[in-house]
Amino acid sequence: MSVTATNTVAPLTVVATSEGLKIDGTDPKYGDWRDDLVRDGYAVIKGAVPKERAGKYADAMFSWLEGFDLGFNRNDLSTVHRDNLPWIDQKGMCLQYAVTHEDFAWAIRGEPGVVAAFEKVYDTKDLIVSFDAINFGFPNRTDIPKNVPWPHQDQDPLKPGFRCLQGLVNLLPNGPDDGGLIVCKGAHLVSEEYHRVFKDEPRIPAWTNEWFGFTDNGMKWLEIQGYEWEKVCADPGDLLVWDSRTPHYNLSSKTQQPRFAAYTCYMPVAHATQEDLERKKDAFERFVGTTHWPNARHVGSNVAKRGEEDDPHNRLEPVNKPALDERTFKLTGIPYMAE
Ligand SMILES: [Fe+2]
Repeated sequence: MSVTATNTVAPLTVVATSEGLKIDGTDPKYGDWRDDLVRDGYAVIKGAVPKERAGKYADAMFSWLEGFDLGFNRNDLSTVHRDNLPWIDQKGMCLQYAVTHEDFAWAIRGEPGVVAAFEKVYDTKDLIVSFDAINFGFPNRTDIPKNVPWPHQDQDPLKPGFRCLQGLVNLLPNGPDDGGLIVCKGAHLVSEEYHRVFKDEPRIPAWTNEWFGFTDNGMKWLEIQGYEWEKVCADPGDLLVWDSRTPHYNLSSKTQQPRFAAYTCYMPVAHATQEDLERKKDAFERFVGTTHWPNARHVGSNVAKRGEEDDPHNRLEPVNKPALDERTFKLTGIPYMAE
């Protein structure tokens, strides 16, 4: 497959026959974190972002929150309240206010160590990236609903096999009780069996088929099969990746330590259609977000609610617009669009 770029000097060529990871029991030994990913359904890539830069990104994220001038102060956790912050849900997700296109979000997406990890998995440099949420997890929040477990896969059970690698860049120290990603270790490999066993069980309602929630019965089945849940711990700058089939959710911090993360998910551009790339370009130009799926199957909005009303502090553009270098701009998919 060959496509022509509209705004690069030379047309970009996409090789569709990738020899990426299979994650089906047939992968060879790689001698690095890919072995963990294949076996456990997740992996931690230590230091994918240098610690110093991770610290700068965390600072920029704190400044972004303080920049709303609503009373939040990073040095006083008593100021963590929905009245003092943009809207952040109980899972820590912030999706609106053009946050996903702030310069720090794009700088994280363009981090060479992060991009390189996905290039290794898919065996191609022709990738596109999601415009996904930023996570601002603060401890001890009583001003918003409790964060209850929502164990799930981010993949349609009718489309089995390894299809998507999700990722997040962790930006603050993240120990066992500091909240964050928890996964059911190794259960990606029994996904098909699970869906055979539970094929007649009513599904937990979801807004997209690419989300499957585990019921209490399903959780018991995983336990009986011997699968255990593990909270993934990380240092600032570590990249966490997981197969979309791996059951997962996130926990809130039980300490005084906030948890900041940027979701970064890449897929080969060869897996996207021209229509997908058009939708993605539109999202990029309007500074709106997507889900973790980089093909922009679902596009978000920058209009957050404050109670019943539109938040008067909504923003339709980033405060600090990103300046994308050539490598990072390719990740928008725009250079791969046909004329
Ligand atoms: Fe998820």
